[in-house]
Amino acid sequence: MATVALVGTQWGDEGKGKIIDILAAKADMVVRAQGGNNAGHTVVNGGKTYKLRLVPSGILYENCDCIIAGGVVVDPKALLGELKDLTDKGVKIDRLRIDERAHVILPYHLKLDALSEKARGKGDIGTTGRGIGPCYTDRAERSGIRMYDFVHPEVFKAKLSERVKVKNEIIVKVYGEEPLNADEIFKEYSEYSAILKKYVTDTSVLVYDAVKSGKSVLLEGAQGTLLDLGYGTYPYVTSSHPISGGFCVGAGIGPTAIDECIGVAKAYTTRVGKGPFPTELDDEVGERIRRVGAEFGTVTGRPRRCGWLDAVILRLAVRLNGLTSLSLNKLDTLSGIDELKVCVAYECDGKRVEHFPADIDELAKCKPIYESVKGWSEDISGAKKFEDLPENAQKYIKYVEKQIGCRISIIGVGPDRTQSIYR
Ligand code: GDP
Ligand code: IMO
Ligand code: MG
Repeated sequence: MATVALVGTQWGDEGKGKIIDILAAKADMVVRAQGGNNAGHTVVNGGKTYKLRLVPSGILYENCDCIIAGGVVVDPKALLGELKDLTDKGVKIDRLRIDERAHVILPYHLKLDALSEKARGKGDIGTTGRGIGPCYTDRAERSGIRMYDFVHPEVFKAKLSERVKVKNEIIVKVYGEEPLNADEIFKEYSEYSAILKKYVTDTSVLVYDAVKSGKSVLLEGAQGTLLDLGYGTYPYVTSSHPISGGFCVGAGIGPTAIDECIGVAKAYTTRVGKGPFPTELDDEVGERIRRVGAEFGTVTGRPRRCGWLDAVILRLAVRLNGLTSLSLNKLDTLSGIDELKVCVAYECDGKRVEHFPADIDELAKCKPIYESVKGWSEDISGAKKFEDLPENAQKYIKYVEKQIGCRISIIGVGPDRTQSIYR
């Protein structure tokens, strides 16, 4: 394995955690380049289930260096909670490093996330409420507090007091809420910074050195292509760039450093949060997929909206990320459905649309054009090779490959890492 980027191709929760864990076993370094603890990656390893949010999945392997790079937003309190959960489970965390440039999520970001969602009323985005958007806003506005500032108490204190003053103006005057107290925040958060200081460094140098010396580096994607700030279903997106190009900016490496780009998709489609979703099913099939696939959010526990596989979305993901192959997960969830549908294009105002529209009002008008594929009734959760799959399941895989123009190299038939078929 050289440098591999692993990217979500739908609206997140595609089962990236499982695939990252499989690849991390062979990696020297795993790097998170974007997002924050809005991510929830489930890893089922050695009979234990881990729910990782901010910490790269490589942490479960003793020889793997783990990097939280400069493009990530870090909630120190949440990170320390996650590290404690890991150490309680016997996981060693000394190989973790956090970039000096990563921005820090502070209490006013959490507060403003909640207040702006409330103010949007029915038009709310359905964020995870983790302060992600407000923190990235400060970064773009050039008023954020970075890890470097955070671990230098004098700098942190000065910047925090100035920031809280400005944020309180908004909290009080725009939203009519109680102001925050900078001294109290400083007192609490300087304890966190004292613990985290030893992990903070310039990780872009570490990543570069690893790539240059031919080590196996895995860029662990969070969220998914349709949640990308630029190319996703704006404004129902996250505030970072979860596409492969975003990993270069986030990790601080050039595009030529990436050798392979593996996409992760479910054999159907889900999304949490608001926004248009052309293949969404409001019937018993959708309900069945949610029940059988246990489609409830890892971070917030919200029921995920479920629908048929959308090849228009996957073609977009192949194009935007430069995918070299795809892992199609949760094929087992579709067992027992007689007739499977795949959306191959949309119909909008009487015209056939082949490419995912840029605008969500246009997307909302799009009706899926489906093709039907025969299902299978067998339990496939024990299949080890492609040939173990029922004929119709094999046909489904080949059909999807043809529709999206990308090779399917891994097929998921259950949550455990051993429940994966390699082709
Ligand atoms: P991530 O955010 O992309 O890492 O995905 P999540 O962990 O949020 O959600 C994916 C869920 O699907 C988790 O509960 C996984 O354990 C589970 N999962 C992953 N792959 C498979 C699979 O092939 N079959 C089944 N049944 N579950 C899977
Ligand atoms: P993983 O890595 C699914 C969604 C939220 C909301 C939108 C904006 O587990 O795939 P935010 O809190 O980021 O401002 O919310 O993005 N969202 C995710 N949905 N999986 C995720 O991560 C997500 N991270 C954010 O539900 O719709
Ligand atoms: Mg998730």
